Amino acid sequence: MKILSIETSCDETAAAVVEDGRKVLGSVIASQVEEHKLYGGVVPEIASRRHAEAISQVVAKALDDAALTLEDIDAIAVTHAPGLIGALLVGVNFAKGLSLATGKPLVPTHHLRSHIASNYISHKELKPPFMCLVVSGGHSHIVMVEDYTKMKVIGRTRDDAAGEAFDKAARALGMPYPGGIEMDRIAELGDPTAFKFPRPVVHDAPYDFSFSGLKTAVINLIHNTEQRGEPLSKEDLCASFRSAVVELLVSNFMKACEDFGVKTLAVAGGVSANSLLRRRLSEESAKRGFTFFKPDKSVCTDNAAMVGSQGYYEYLSGNIADLSLNACATLPIDYR
Ligand code: KG4
Ligand code: ZN
Repeated sequence: MKILSIETSCDETAAAVVEDGRKVLGSVIASQVEEHKLYGGVVPEIASRRHAEAISQVVAKALDDAALTLEDIDAIAVTHAPGLIGALLVGVNFAKGLSLATGKPLVPTHHLRSHIASNYISHKELKPPFMCLVVSGGHSHIVMVEDYTKMKVIGRTRDDAAGEAFDKAARALGMPYPGGIEMDRIAELGDPTAFKFPRPVVHDAPYDFSFSGLKTAVINLIHNTEQRGEPLSKEDLCASFRSAVVELLVSNFMKACEDFGVKTLAVAGGVSANSLLRRRLSEESAKRGFTFFKPDKSVCTDNAAMVGSQGYYEYLSGNIADLSLNACATLPIDYR
């Protein structure tokens, strides 16, 4: 079964063609990041306008790369939630138009479920059940993936998402948006023990995260050091901050897997591209005899191939929308 998939939840206009949920036949991503960089973050109004401009060409190119036409497609999957509402609406309405014109089924697909599915593209052997650490710019969840479309949230952030914490700390260090990637690169050059940052725990919720105190600590340190006119090693600061965020993620995630007796693990979302997070999850999984899966770096950040993968399983589970489908800015990953 061939699915044409569309993703416009944030600042990438993306389309892909995916066969049977696992084989990517074509995948195109038009990033708007250079424009949003000028403003230090995503400007929703600009994002919607750029999606509207790019979407037809991006979809046409994905079909072209797959050497297929709309007639060869069996269903159209689209990210309908969560994300920037105006941005989502562009993809949802385009998909509705295609569905109306072709008579092909319309499959609404949850963005975070799609991030989890990026692992199905990279690892043909991976099947639920498994525990997944989902870390993106807007969310940080520990999710029990009981089946392809049946999930349970075990832990979540109480404040900032991990990606957001990276981006805000990076911004305080003068790095361009999205700073997480640059911070990861610079952190490789520094000493992670140079600065001690708090490792906040959430009382009575051992699998929940809190990153805002950590973010404030790094911002205060930068400002205080600047005010005193003292030098600050960007490399050491990035390495120490990255280590603090990663250790929080890894320790709660490992605890959840141990407590729930789950031995198959995966990571997903933009922050799953983080080199330390990938290394530390591999190390801690190996120590415990767990099997750990991580998506190829090419599908960690937003793309439509993952939407085509999850869309396939949504279709099989009967999740098919009519033309009244709307976009939702928020929707829990365990919705039904
Ligand atoms: O999943 P994603 O592409 O978009 C959302 O759904 O939010 O995630 C984007 C986030 C940004 O915060 C970005 O800084 C972060 O992922 N990110 C990273 C790395 N690559 C992307 N954070 C840390 N280290 C990286 N290597
Ligand atoms: Zn995402």
